Amino acid sequence: MARLDRLLANLGYGSRREVADLVRHRQVVLDGAELRDAGARIAVTADLPSRMTVVGQPMDPPAPLTVLMHKPLGVVCSHREEGRSVYELLPRRWRARMPALSTIGRLDKDTSGLLLITDDGPFLHRVISPKAKVAKSYVATLDRPLEGSEAEVFAAGTLVLEGERDALAPAVLEPMGPTRARLIITEGRYHQVRRMFAAVGNHVTALHRERIGGLDLPGEMEPGAWRALTVEEQAAVFA
Ligand code: URA
Repeated sequence: MARLDRLLANLGYGSRREVADLVRHRQVVLDGAELRDAGARIAVTADLPSRMTVVGQPMDPPAPLTVLMHKPLGVVCSHREEGRSVYELLPRRWRARMPALSTIGRLDKDTSGLLLITDDGPFLHRVISPKAKVAKSYVATLDRPLEGSEAEVFAAGTLVLEGERDALAPAVLEPMGPTRARLIITEGRYHQVRRMFAAVGNHVTALHRERIGGLDLPGEMEPGAWRALTVEEQAAVFA
């Protein structure tokens, strides 16, 4: 149960006072009835957005919320980095959500593909935990043809990236053409895929993430598109 004013304030609809004003103006409707008390206690269930409207629109999904996005090229994953961020692709109001939304790991500005954004701390930590070994699958386009030895180097579990001390965990390389390959890694080190190919004398010219665990980027999803992750899809990450 949550107080209505706190619930809507935490979803970014305004301060509690502003939410109280919305209620006073009969702008919050639950199961067809205008709510009159901003302090009313509401059961926060997953179906609430289908039962409650705020200013005539379905209420935003309450926490815990995970968003599946097809990250386009040219946007950054951090609030702190310069440039347009993935958060700007979501409704403006969501920037005021509490708990806040964070990306699960990061994709470079020049990397596209499957990105998860969540306010569910335990889920985030489970996905990025090295112990969970959740596989991330990338398709890399390369500057130079593969030499043939890369798969063995990456699978060995002995490759140490420049400036690092610890060897990378074994990774799987599947050639897809002379200058294209799928690389499946279970860690998430800084610029890992680009640095792995640099370590074998190549250069990544394009990079796309197609899969996290057992969850594929839906084929019909255009770059920049997003939607809430379903419970089944959330489970697929660990499948
Ligand atoms: N590895 C990279 O080099 N970049 C990404 O965005 C993700 C993995």
